[in-house]
Amino acid sequence: MSGIILAIESSCDETSASVVKNGTVLSNIVSTQEVHQKYGGVVPELASRAHQKNILPVVSEALKGAGIKKTDLDAVAFTKGPGLLGALLVGTSFAKGMAMALDIPLIGVNHMQAHILAHFIESPKPKFPFLCLTVSGGHTQLVVVKSPLEMEVIGETIDDAVGEAFDKTAKIMGLDYPGGPLIDKFAKDGDPLKFKFPNVNIPDYNFSFSGIKTAFLNFLRKETQKDADFIEKNKADLCASIQFTLIRILMKKLTKAANELNIKEIGIAGGVSANSGLRSTLKEEGEKLGWNVFVPEFEHCTDNAAMIAMAAHYQYEGKDFEKLSTSPNPRLKF
Ligand code: KG4
Ligand code: ZN
Repeated sequence: MSGIILAIESSCDETSASVVKNGTVLSNIVSTQEVHQKYGGVVPELASRAHQKNILPVVSEALKGAGIKKTDLDAVAFTKGPGLLGALLVGTSFAKGMAMALDIPLIGVNHMQAHILAHFIESPKPKFPFLCLTVSGGHTQLVVVKSPLEMEVIGETIDDAVGEAFDKTAKIMGLDYPGGPLIDKFAKDGDPLKFKFPNVNIPDYNFSFSGIKTAFLNFLRKETQKDADFIEKNKADLCASIQFTLIRILMKKLTKAANELNIKEIGIAGGVSANSGLRSTLKEEGEKLGWNVFVPEFEHCTDNAAMIAMAAHYQYEGKDFEKLSTSPNPRLKF
């Protein structure tokens, strides 16, 4: 079964809509909310209000971009979770209204599974089973992907997500939110081996990032007491060193899982997979280890509705529909 599906993403601070036709993405409109920058993080109430304001123009633009009328749609999909409840409610209610008015099926998508299915927007596509490291602002997971609809989380963070570690260490340095892309930018001119931060050992395929953030904070407190301009003078080296430390932790667990499970199809997904250091490290090490490495296009790494549309395409084929009485789940699991 194939069809034309409109997908809506509103789990955090991006309002996005996309149209997919028979598994091909025709449009992907993303509106990033600038309002959070001055608060140093996403303010949930402001996110909901901005989604409410943006959703209609974003959906209209996605339909227009795809050359599709509302009445051409075969289904409408929305992000069911995980995410911020107030933000999710905006996309969910909008999708429910459209499904009801057009009398078409409603599809609820798991945001983290959709990040992984971003790999299926472009070619070449990974073969199953493939191992995906999903790294975002709220999650850090190692996932064995057996099919588009069958995924198993084999490890995850026991505290902060790696995106949070990027954002929080950036905030400590006085950088704007989100700090991840800024650390990436400044790290390009720095020495990754200049400063060393402790690499805590966590069993199995799990991760921990809160200790590094604290170590970084303590280190900077000590250094700025001696020299108030320490951060400004060492910005590039600090960014390169913290980025290097975080990438090492991710690569260690990814390599362990790939070896032990004997999987050579390896991907990364989620906002932090936009990090240029992680992308190049994965490509270099993957080549040495004989992996087939998959990295989504930059615009499909951070939150976007094209990945929701891709997941919805597979769910539509499997007739995995929601009742109109459905509601979002901020803690939705696989
Ligand atoms: O997947 P995403 O857009 O939203 C969530 O589902 O959380 O991920 C957002 C996270 C933020 O922590 C942001 O700082 C991080 O992805 N991020 C990056 C880069 N681009 C986005 N982190 C490091 N380097 C980047 N280039
Ligand atoms: Zn995300």
